[in-house]
Amino acid sequence: MKIAGTGSALPTKQVTNDDLSKFLDTSDEWIFPRTGIKSRHVISDENLEDLAVEAVNKALEMASVAACDIDFFICSNVVNEYITPGLGCVIASKAGLACPSIDINCGCPGFVYGMDIIDKYFRSGTVKNVLLVAAEEPSRMTAWTDRSTCVLFGDGAAAAVFTEGGNYLASKLSARPDPDPLYQYHLMEPTPYVTKEEYSLPLQMKGREVFKFAITACLDDIKTVLDKAGKKVEDIDYFLIHQANQRIVDSIRGHLGVEEAKFPTNIIDHGNSSSASCLILLDECNRKGMFKRGDLLLFSGFGAGLLSGSALLEW
Ligand code: UT7
Repeated sequence: MKIAGTGSALPTKQVTNDDLSKFLDTSDEWIFPRTGIKSRHVISDENLEDLAVEAVNKALEMASVAACDIDFFICSNVVNEYITPGLGCVIASKAGLACPSIDINCGCPGFVYGMDIIDKYFRSGTVKNVLLVAAEEPSRMTAWTDRSTCVLFGDGAAAAVFTEGGNYLASKLSARPDPDPLYQYHLMEPTPYVTKEEYSLPLQMKGREVFKFAITACLDDIKTVLDKAGKKVEDIDYFLIHQANQRIVDSIRGHLGVEEAKFPTNIIDHGNSSSASCLILLDECNRKGMFKRGDLLLFSGFGAGLLSGSALLEW
């Protein structure tokens, strides 16, 4: 498969670090050096599915593929207002898609997981045009009184259209199964039979533990992908890494010994938009005309689960 088109859409409201410091015990002096974030887009009046549809339409237009010609669709999402149907069905109904869709909840590396599933469909010879959407609203997961989480995240949606081609060169999905470092509970509907205590909790994160996991897992995955594809670090034109923290990206870049220009970032004005982050970054770089045919792009994501994954794609 190959990527034939990308698109993204962001909420109009931008919240700066100074805005946050008006109601939280935090400051730009803490947030920016610790994370690389200056501002983030946060959903106010928009609906997540409408942002996703905007991203889908842009990606379809770039790929010159009609909505009715998409024959399979994966939606990567952690939280949205529907419990059922899956967000993919909601997006499909508004975007005029008529194909089966699957929702995946793989957290931040969801983009890589979605891409890897799509690759398997192409290899089975059953699809010609496939859509991947990552639509995320982490601002609805964090407690806005918890300075250790709410300052980190931003909302947004992005999409990519995949068509036939031999450009997906190698991938590695990994897991260190353990929900404890990064999880959220929501309250289930009570029944007459449940006797155990149930409660809801906003996003809980052991930041330092996740930070260390992110760097170790990302470096392991990248090394495996390069070995599988028979490539070296210096063969890669761009590394598109999940935008969780500028310090994580810088540390990975430092370990690999790669110059800054090969590690584009947009965390400064997006924050961490979970599985949408890599795909929004891809779309922004693509629309700036950064990639040329044959460039090697290495994607990597990590987060809740704890899950991680990397993939190598030829542009
Ligand atoms: O996408 C999912 C994956 N998520 C990640 O990859 C996140 C990985 N983790 C991180 O990016 C970092 O661990 C954080 C940015 C979350 C935190 O940075 P840190 O350097 O690990 O700080 P810390 O959690 O160790 O906190 C240091 C201090 C604490 O105060 P004390 O206990 O030293 O007095 C915190 O209470 O900074 C305090 N702090 C803040 N102060 C001002 C935490 N958040 C804030 C804040 N403003 N927003």
